[in-house]
Amino acid sequence: MTYNIAIIGATGAVGHKLLSTILDRKFPTNEIYLLASKNSAGKKITHNNKEFMVEDLDSFNFSKVDIAFFSAGASVSSKYALLAEESNCYVIDNTSFFRMHDDIPLVVPEVNEEDIDTSNRKIIANPNCSTIQMLVALFPIHKINKIKKIIVSTYQSVSGAGQQAMNELTEQSKSYFSKDQIVCKSFPKQIAYNVIPQIDIFTDNKFTKEEMKMVNETNKILDKNINVNATCVRVPSYMGHAESIYIELEKDMSIEDLERALQNAEGIKYSNSDYHTPIDSEGEDWVYVSRVRKDIYKNNIFNLWVVADNLLKGAALNSVQIGESLIKKKIMSTNE
Ligand code: A2P
Repeated sequence: MTYNIAIIGATGAVGHKLLSTILDRKFPTNEIYLLASKNSAGKKITHNNKEFMVEDLDSFNFSKVDIAFFSAGASVSSKYALLAEESNCYVIDNTSFFRMHDDIPLVVPEVNEEDIDTSNRKIIANPNCSTIQMLVALFPIHKINKIKKIIVSTYQSVSGAGQQAMNELTEQSKSYFSKDQIVCKSFPKQIAYNVIPQIDIFTDNKFTKEEMKMVNETNKILDKNINVNATCVRVPSYMGHAESIYIELEKDMSIEDLERALQNAEGIKYSNSDYHTPIDSEGEDWVYVSRVRKDIYKNNIFNLWVVADNLLKGAALNSVQIGESLIKKKIMSTNE
């Protein structure tokens, strides 16, 4: 069985990864439609010698598609994902627009694949990149010893803000050395040779929207009783997000038992002898966990260092895995 699929935001950083992940994982496709804004219509995108033509989203008819992967920003999803759903097409949405809607499942397949339910709606939301890698790492621990509290600080690469943001880091780095004026468009302050403790806008409680996404999405996916305290920081790396995570567990636990849970877990590469950096995760499907330490004072508190490719497990790969879950659960009908 094969499926007609569409990628919305195909010219963007995540859009490119969606196409390569779909092809590399041999997702059973028939037609693949690449969609973006009018400006990109007619552009060609090549992967593994296969050439695809980009089409204008505005004039696209979703009724010829079985499954649409959206990654063109929340405002595009707010309009076109609904149009796709009305055309009987399954939507996997990588934007924040539907994530906290009660009737839309928010899914990390390793953690809550069973939450996929399309009996009312045909839209499934893909969580925020920082939430995904944190929850893949923490789920095997939470399963055997409930997590009560999480304190997380992130070190997020510029690719999380899209292709233009990656170009901005390059331009600012050149300007820094040539002593030209630094131009900030994608970020509120200079990102080259700097770090910025703000991702997305501030909310009324002084946390940023990105930080509140980590709180709310963790409560929706993993457990509504976990207290989450997040500080999200943009750093001048291109690919991969890193997170320093503190967890407080319900019961005391040995570090050996905690390591055993991580070693046997789906989607995780664990190391107790080395550590991983964001560059190690680039192009890889794994969530890397290292530097596990038991608290100096308490036996129910641990620290972990978690790294993943934000465009893959944090976005494209997780979305494609959701698509694979739809097939596994025999939810999708086909074009055949
Ligand atoms: P385009 O390149 O034509 O502007 P990134 O996250 O890397 O910034 O990429 C954003 C993606 O979303 C791009 O593919 C971009 O297409 C697409 N996009 C943004 N706004 C729209 C829109 N109004 N309609 C269709 N696609 C859009």
